[in-house]
Amino acid sequence: MARRTVKAPRTEGDAEMEIRTATAADVPGVIALDEEVTGLLKPDYWQDMFERYGARRRESRFFLVAGAAGRIDGFIIGEVRAWEFGSSPSGWIFAVQVRSRLRVHGLGSRLFAAVCDCFRDAGVDRVRTMVARDNTVIHSFFRSQGMTAGPFIELEMRFD
Ligand SMILES: CC(C)(COP(=O)(O)OP(=O)(O)OC[C@H]1O[C@@H](n2cnc3c(N)ncnc32)[C@H](O)[C@@H]1OP(=O)(O)O)[C@@H](O)C(=O)NCCC(=O)NCCS
Repeated sequence: MARRTVKAPRTEGDAEMEIRTATAADVPGVIALDEEVTGLLKPDYWQDMFERYGARRRESRFFLVAGAAGRIDGFIIGEVRAWEFGSSPSGWIFAVQVRSRLRVHGLGSRLFAAVCDCFRDAGVDRVRTMVARDNTVIHSFFRSQGMTAGPFIELEMRFD
């Protein structure tokens, strides 16, 4: 399903960045990258994400990063979920980000391919995600990887 790009990301040494499992030392770099991308500083959120997805249950939860500790250039987070909403086990991607100046050079595709490899190794046969309706870039990105509309519709209700 995953389309793999051959373009190399722009790094200082022009070398292809390694994609690896996040460690505790990577959390400040993830917080800094997210702040650069979203404009919001969320240290508690990312520490909690690391504790839930990076530190344990590695057979079904995956927090992958590209870059060095202290300067993370991209990351992706996913999990195998089973039987929620009556769905058979499948991989879910919750977050993907790439540093602005490195985009459209294949790093996002490599992160996507890497987490899909983790999902395949975990024994599932498909990957799912949820995207904001108005985020055309993320729609274009996931479509370019081969993803299409899935079988569920999200519903919500405000309490105020
Ligand atoms: C989405 C994102 C991760 C893509 O990373 P990337 O490294 O640029 O991705 P790639 O270079 O592998 O792009 C693969 C394909 O995605 C599509 N794409 C990527 N950026 C695009 C853009 N700005 N406009 C249109 N299509 C785009 C293209 O089809 C591209 O293939 P092409 O280069 O052959 O045309 C990156 O843009 C990003 O971090 N965005 C902000 C974070 C975000 O919104 N995350 C989603 C919420 S969790």
